[in-house]
Amino acid sequence: MVKRTASSVDTNKDVILAALRMLLPREGTVLEVGSGTGQHAAYFAKHLPHLSWQPTDLEENLPSIRAWAADATLPNLRPPLVLDLLQDGWPVGSVQAVVCINTVHIVAWTGVERLFEGAGQILPPGGVIYVYGAYRYAMRPLESSNEEFDRWLKARDPASGVRDFEAVNALAERNGFVLAGDEPVPVNNRSIWWVKS
Ligand SMILES: C[S@@+](CC[C@H](N)C(=O)[O-])C[C@H]1O[C@@H](n2cnc3c(N)ncnc32)[C@H](O)[C@@H]1O
Repeated sequence: MVKRTASSVDTNKDVILAALRMLLPREGTVLEVGSGTGQHAAYFAKHLPHLSWQPTDLEENLPSIRAWAADATLPNLRPPLVLDLLQDGWPVGSVQAVVCINTVHIVAWTGVERLFEGAGQILPPGGVIYVYGAYRYAMRPLESSNEEFDRWLKARDPASGVRDFEAVNALAERNGFVLAGDEPVPVNNRSIWWVKS
Protein backbone atom coordinates (compact mmCIF):
# COMPACT_ATOMS: atom_id res chain seq x y z
CA MET A 1 0.00 0.00 0.00
CA VAL A 2 1.34 3.42 -0.93
CA LYS A 3 -0.23 5.42 1.90
CA ARG A 4 1.37 4.05 5.04
CA THR A 5 0.61 4.83 8.68
CA ALA A 6 2.78 4.70 11.79
CA SER A 7 0.81 4.30 15.03
CA SER A 8 3.40 6.34 16.96
CA VAL A 9 2.39 9.45 15.02
CA ASP A 10 -1.07 9.51 16.56
CA THR A 11 0.42 9.43 20.05
CA ASN A 12 3.14 12.05 19.52
CA LYS A 13 1.77 14.50 16.92
CA ASP A 14 -0.01 16.80 19.39
CA VAL A 15 2.90 16.87 21.84
CA ILE A 16 5.22 17.80 18.99
CA LEU A 17 2.76 20.32 17.54
CA ALA A 18 2.59 22.09 20.92
CA ALA A 19 6.39 22.38 20.94
CA LEU A 20 6.51 23.55 17.32
CA ARG A 21 3.88 26.25 17.95
CA MET A 22 6.15 27.65 20.65
CA LEU A 23 9.50 27.48 18.88
CA LEU A 24 8.96 27.85 15.13
CA PRO A 25 9.08 31.29 13.47
CA ARG A 26 5.91 33.16 12.44
CA GLU A 27 6.63 32.71 8.74
CA GLY A 28 8.96 30.91 6.40
CA THR A 29 9.75 27.34 5.38
CA VAL A 30 10.29 24.35 7.63
CA LEU A 31 12.41 21.51 6.28
CA GLU A 32 11.45 18.15 7.76
CA VAL A 33 14.19 15.50 7.60
CA GLY A 34 13.04 11.85 7.73
CA SER A 35 9.33 12.53 7.13
CA GLY A 36 8.54 8.80 7.14
CA THR A 37 4.92 8.07 6.24
CA GLY A 38 4.09 11.75 5.68
CA GLN A 39 1.52 11.88 8.49
CA HIS A 40 3.41 14.48 10.51
CA ALA A 41 3.92 16.69 7.46
CA ALA A 42 0.19 16.69 6.64
CA TYR A 43 -0.78 17.30 10.28
CA PHE A 44 1.71 20.07 10.97
CA ALA A 45 1.05 21.83 7.66
CA LYS A 46 -2.68 21.81 8.47
CA HIS A 47 -2.19 23.20 11.97
CA LEU A 48 0.60 25.65 11.12
CA PRO A 49 -0.88 27.30 8.00
CA HIS A 50 1.40 30.34 8.31
CA LEU A 51 4.42 28.13 7.55
CA SER A 52 5.43 26.33 4.38
CA TRP A 53 6.22 22.67 5.15
CA GLN A 54 8.87 20.84 3.10
CA PRO A 55 8.90 17.08 3.76
CA THR A 56 11.93 14.98 2.78
CA ASP A 57 13.06 11.38 3.13
CA LEU A 58 14.70 8.58 1.19
CA GLU A 59 13.22 8.02 -2.29
CA GLU A 60 11.37 4.89 -1.18
CA ASN A 61 9.26 6.88 1.32
CA LEU A 62 8.14 9.63 -1.02
CA PRO A 63 5.04 7.80 -2.40
CA SER A 64 3.44 7.61 1.07
CA ILE A 65 4.30 11.24 1.80
CA ARG A 66 2.74 12.22 -1.55
CA ALA A 67 -0.38 10.16 -0.75
CA TRP A 68 -0.90 11.93 2.60
CA ALA A 69 -0.31 15.29 0.90
CA ALA A 70 -2.78 14.45 -1.89
CA ASP A 71 -5.52 13.76 0.66
CA ALA A 72 -4.66 16.84 2.72
CA THR A 73 -4.71 19.28 -0.25
CA LEU A 74 -2.93 22.03 1.65
CA PRO A 75 -1.39 24.99 -0.18
CA ASN A 76 1.47 25.21 2.33
CA LEU A 77 2.51 21.53 2.06
CA ARG A 78 5.21 21.18 -0.57
CA PRO A 79 5.83 18.04 -2.63
CA PRO A 80 8.37 15.81 -0.86
CA LEU A 81 12.02 15.85 -1.88
CA VAL A 82 14.77 13.28 -1.51
CA LEU A 83 17.16 14.05 1.33
CA ASP A 84 19.51 11.20 2.26
CA LEU A 85 21.64 12.15 5.24
CA LEU A 86 24.32 9.69 4.13
CA GLN A 87 24.70 11.39 0.75
CA ASP A 88 26.12 14.78 -0.13
CA GLY A 89 23.86 17.69 -0.99
CA TRP A 90 20.59 19.00 0.40
CA PRO A 91 17.65 19.71 -1.94
CA VAL A 92 16.87 23.19 -0.55
CA GLY A 93 19.10 26.21 -0.18
CA SER A 94 17.58 28.21 2.63
CA VAL A 95 14.85 27.57 5.21
CA GLN A 96 13.94 29.05 8.59
CA ALA A 97 13.73 25.80 10.60
CA VAL A 98 14.69 22.12 10.44
CA VAL A 99 12.57 19.45 12.15
CA CYS A 100 13.75 15.85 12.58
CA ILE A 101 11.50 13.39 14.41
CA ASN A 102 12.59 9.90 15.50
CA THR A 103 15.37 9.79 12.92
CA VAL A 104 18.57 10.64 14.86
CA HIS A 105 18.51 7.15 16.46
CA ILE A 106 17.88 5.51 13.06
CA VAL A 107 20.62 6.95 10.85
CA ALA A 108 24.30 6.09 11.34
CA TRP A 109 26.27 8.67 13.32
CA THR A 110 27.66 10.08 10.06
CA GLY A 111 24.08 10.96 9.16
CA VAL A 112 23.57 12.75 12.49
CA GLU A 113 26.75 14.72 11.81
CA ARG A 114 25.44 15.66 8.38
CA LEU A 115 22.08 16.66 9.83
CA PHE A 116 23.72 19.35 11.95
CA GLU A 117 26.26 20.32 9.30
CA GLY A 118 23.49 20.72 6.72
CA ALA A 119 21.23 22.61 9.12
CA GLY A 120 24.15 24.86 10.02
CA GLN A 121 24.58 25.70 6.35
CA ILE A 122 20.96 26.39 5.40
CA LEU A 123 19.65 28.10 8.53
CA PRO A 124 20.15 31.84 9.07
CA PRO A 125 21.08 33.29 12.47
CA GLY A 126 18.04 32.75 14.68
CA GLY A 127 17.02 29.65 12.69
CA VAL A 128 15.89 26.63 14.71
CA ILE A 129 16.66 22.92 14.57
CA TYR A 130 14.26 20.70 16.52
CA VAL A 131 14.66 17.00 17.22
CA TYR A 132 12.30 14.58 18.93
CA GLY A 133 13.16 11.12 20.18
CA ALA A 134 14.90 9.05 22.85
CA TYR A 135 18.23 10.30 24.25
CA ARG A 136 20.77 9.06 26.82
CA TYR A 137 22.08 11.57 29.40
CA ALA A 138 25.42 11.24 31.21
CA MET A 139 23.95 12.43 34.50
CA ARG A 140 21.18 9.83 34.81
CA PRO A 141 20.54 6.20 33.92
CA LEU A 142 18.75 5.48 30.68
CA GLU A 143 15.10 4.53 31.25
CA SER A 144 14.56 0.76 31.02
CA SER A 145 12.15 1.20 28.08
CA ASN A 146 14.86 3.11 26.19
CA GLU A 147 17.53 0.51 27.13
CA GLU A 148 15.29 -2.07 25.52
CA PHE A 149 14.67 0.22 22.53
CA ASP A 150 18.43 0.74 22.12
CA ARG A 151 19.05 -3.03 22.13
CA TRP A 152 16.28 -3.51 19.56
CA LEU A 153 17.69 -0.77 17.32
CA LYS A 154 21.24 -2.15 17.45
CA ALA A 155 20.11 -5.72 16.78
CA ARG A 156 18.40 -4.42 13.66
CA ASP A 157 21.25 -2.10 12.60
CA PRO A 158 24.44 -1.83 14.68
CA ALA A 159 25.04 1.71 13.33
CA SER A 160 21.77 2.95 14.87
CA GLY A 161 20.92 3.42 18.54
CA VAL A 162 19.79 5.86 21.22
CA ARG A 163 22.24 8.78 21.03
CA ASP A 164 24.08 10.52 23.83
CA PHE A 165 22.56 13.94 24.35
CA GLU A 166 25.98 15.40 25.16
CA ALA A 167 27.45 14.14 21.86
CA VAL A 168 24.53 15.54 19.87
CA ASN A 169 24.71 18.84 21.73
CA ALA A 170 28.47 19.07 21.04
CA LEU A 171 27.73 18.46 17.36
CA ALA A 172 25.12 21.20 17.38
CA GLU A 173 27.54 23.62 19.05
CA ARG A 174 30.28 22.79 16.52
CA ASN A 175 27.88 23.84 13.78
CA GLY A 176 26.98 27.18 15.33
CA PHE A 177 23.90 26.26 17.40
CA VAL A 178 23.06 27.14 20.99
CA LEU A 179 20.80 24.87 23.04
CA ALA A 180 17.44 26.63 23.49
CA GLY A 181 15.24 23.92 25.03
CA ASP A 182 15.25 20.33 26.20
CA GLU A 183 11.99 19.00 27.60
CA PRO A 184 10.71 15.59 28.63
CA VAL A 185 7.70 14.37 26.68
CA PRO A 186 5.59 11.21 27.15
CA VAL A 187 7.00 7.69 26.90
CA ASN A 188 10.54 8.79 27.80
CA ASN A 189 11.17 10.90 24.74
CA ARG A 190 12.64 14.39 24.55
CA SER A 191 11.83 17.55 22.63
CA ILE A 192 15.16 19.34 22.04
CA TRP A 193 15.89 22.45 20.01
CA TRP A 194 18.80 24.72 19.23
CA VAL A 195 18.99 28.20 17.74
CA LYS A 196 21.65 29.26 15.22
CA SER A 197 23.87 31.95 16.65
C1 LIG B 1 11.61 5.86 12.69
S1 LIG B 1 11.36 6.62 11.15
C2 LIG B 1 10.63 8.16 11.64
C3 LIG B 1 9.75 8.71 10.59
C4 LIG B 1 8.90 9.92 11.01
N1 LIG B 1 9.72 11.07 11.29
C5 LIG B 1 8.04 9.56 12.19
O1 LIG B 1 8.34 10.02 13.30
O2 LIG B 1 7.09 8.80 12.00
C6 LIG B 1 12.98 7.07 10.63
C7 LIG B 1 13.01 7.77 9.30
O3 LIG B 1 14.38 8.02 8.96
C8 LIG B 1 14.50 7.86 7.58
N2 LIG B 1 15.88 7.64 7.22
C9 LIG B 1 16.61 6.52 7.36
N3 LIG B 1 17.83 6.69 6.86
C10 LIG B 1 17.88 7.96 6.40
C11 LIG B 1 18.88 8.72 5.74
N4 LIG B 1 20.07 8.19 5.46
N5 LIG B 1 18.60 9.98 5.41
C12 LIG B 1 17.39 10.53 5.67
N6 LIG B 1 16.40 9.85 6.29
C13 LIG B 1 16.65 8.57 6.62
C14 LIG B 1 13.63 6.66 7.28
O4 LIG B 1 13.33 6.54 5.92
C15 LIG B 1 12.43 6.96 8.16
O5 LIG B 1 11.46 7.73 7.50
